[in-house]
Amino acid sequence: MSTGSLPFNPHLATLPVYVPGRPIDEVAREHGLDPASVIKLASNENPLGPSPRAVAAMGEVVRNLHLYPDGSAFHFKRRLAAKLGIDPAHLVVGNGSNEILEFVGHAFMRPGDEVVASQHCFAVYPIVTALFGAKLVLVPAAPDFGADIDAMLAAITPRTTVVFLANPNNPTGTLTRGEDVLRLIEGVPSRVLLVLDEAYIEFLEDPVDSVAAVRDGSRPNLLLARTFSKIFGLAGLRLGYGIASREVVAALEKVRQPFNINSIAQAGALAALDDDAHIVATRANNRAGRELLEAGFARLGLRYVPSHANFVLVDVVDGNRVFSELQRRGVIVRPMGGYGLGGWVRVTVGTPSENARFLACLGEVLGKP
Ligand SMILES: Cc1ncc(COP(=O)(O)O)c(C=O)c1O
Repeated sequence: MSTGSLPFNPHLATLPVYVPGRPIDEVAREHGLDPASVIKLASNENPLGPSPRAVAAMGEVVRNLHLYPDGSAFHFKRRLAAKLGIDPAHLVVGNGSNEILEFVGHAFMRPGDEVVASQHCFAVYPIVTALFGAKLVLVPAAPDFGADIDAMLAAITPRTTVVFLANPNNPTGTLTRGEDVLRLIEGVPSRVLLVLDEAYIEFLEDPVDSVAAVRDGSRPNLLLARTFSKIFGLAGLRLGYGIASREVVAALEKVRQPFNINSIAQAGALAALDDDAHIVATRANNRAGRELLEAGFARLGLRYVPSHANFVLVDVVDGNRVFSELQRRGVIVRPMGGYGLGGWVRVTVGTPSENARFLACLGEVLGKP
């Protein structure tokens, strides 16, 4: 019987693969460590844990798991819309904001299309772009590692269908200032979708009101992507959302699976939305921890990128070695070779004791205890 080769999608051959932060159990097993002694500062999660209100609400839903979830996420969207001051028709929900980014690929990318993003952009943009056979146009970053907005605008051609910008950006932690965000929103032609990825926006003290351009209907080509994985501490739940014009939401709804957000996620996120105490505590812990890490890097004579998010990118000269040595000591960070930053690691802000332990281990690994 002839076998032949399977008709794999040719785009898979060159598709970049997302490498996640390493799980605690796996690292503990590999190095013979007690899992309780391992700390993970590798995936920009919330070190204070999930919102306690969310945990209580999720426990309630479990007895109804024989029923399908509400496919329209009615209660969650209605509460979220009220918080944002928009109509629920401007919202689309995703299994993590990564799924919103994938919806963008389904709805806006065909082979030969161009997608503009900045150098050091979030890893999922190149993946989604390649998956749909579109071409990524990477614009060199500014010297401070931030996005060069003028250069991004100049990179738009008649073939461009999507522009991605994360603000603050992962993995650099850089912020595009309010006036530059508005310049980008105004400068991207109306025939191009602008995706502003605001996964870390809740960590900012004074964020630009990017929702305004959706609320007032002035930018039908704007999509904001947000998540419950970061400040809300619900990364394991997988819930993100998009805010956009009715026209864009209608397109993304067509590619969304009917029950992509499970009932536990809907209940947990609904409760987390109103848990102001948890959000305030997380922001305060993050601010103090980030300052501590940055001061620690300065003391160790290391170059770092001043961060506006819940992680810091630091130049340790040999990122892989430092990553491995820290891992042996039960501290998981993220090596940055996959981002073309082989000398660097990215560390998530932890609890005060986690930050202190990380800095002590880092000093030891670098021979500067
Ligand atoms: C910039 C950015 N966008 C999106 C995501 C995806 O988050 P999630 O799919 O958990 O919502 C992340 C996660 O690290 C991120 O850093």
